[in-house]
Amino acid sequence: MKTIAVANQKGGVGKTTTSVNLGSCLAAEGRAVLLIDLDPQANATSALGLEVAEGMSLYGPLLGEELLADKVLPTRFERLFIVPADIDLAGAEIEVARLEDHLARLRMALAPLASDAPFDFVLIDCPPSLGILMTNALAAADELLVPIQCEYFALEGLSKIVNIVGKIQESGINPALALGGIVMTMFDSRTNLSQQVMQEVRKHFGATVYESAIPRTVRLGEAPSFGKPIIEYDPHGVGANAYRALAKEFLLRNLP
Ligand SMILES: Nc1ncnc2c1ncn2[C@@H]1O[C@H](COP(=O)(O)OP(=O)(O)OP(=O)(O)O)[C@@H](O)[C@H]1O
Ligand SMILES: [Mg+2]
Repeated sequence: MKTIAVANQKGGVGKTTTSVNLGSCLAAEGRAVLLIDLDPQANATSALGLEVAEGMSLYGPLLGEELLADKVLPTRFERLFIVPADIDLAGAEIEVARLEDHLARLRMALAPLASDAPFDFVLIDCPPSLGILMTNALAAADELLVPIQCEYFALEGLSKIVNIVGKIQESGINPALALGGIVMTMFDSRTNLSQQVMQEVRKHFGATVYESAIPRTVRLGEAPSFGKPIIEYDPHGVGANAYRALAKEFLLRNLP
């Protein structure tokens, strides 16, 4: 079982879109996937067409009061499971901060799953701010997958993330945390800016950057409002093809 935090402290860069669509493509490829919605906004939960049910989030498991396994729900897709988010999760930031080992709470909650290993991959859709929740994800993850938008300050945001990874490693919270991949999102091949940003990011981060870039498409933006991942909403469009290609590349990197 490999745990991957889909994270970037910057908002609106495609974390949720990538978590939901990479997750559903990996499931379609035959892998068992658990998607953890760690964002109180619950965007990943609703993007899969699930009602946000109270009491079904990670809140209880983070506080050590309930088992994470009891919060795992099936989705309409074979092999794709979710721990949904709810509004309680917003309160977890404060409550968890008061507890001992407050940065290791998610890691502890996931530990029983690691030994049973019913999933090949756990994808954690992180909230944008670097608070207790995101730090818990970084402490629990084997790797980070960083979506970055093809726009002017992309590199700046990336260097912040790289710093954060360094700090998590040095602090001893999670010395093995790796920057597993960078995925360029909302790529617009018609603009010079997109091309330039892509070149710059590749120059600095080389093979860490996935070959498959995700294009900006209206369909990818629409799909969540129908509660559908792109391979269901527009299975033959460029968005679905891009996420399928990303999933294939991801598997090449992540399977022995
Ligand atoms: N490739 C794309 N083409 C068009 N629209 C996109 C694409 N990727 C994401 N979007 C849209 O951009 C917005 C932000 O994307 P998303 O919610 O995935 O970002 P996020 O990083 O999870 O945001 P937050 O930081 O708020 O959690 C959403 O409305 C989403 O539907
Ligand atoms: Mg999000």
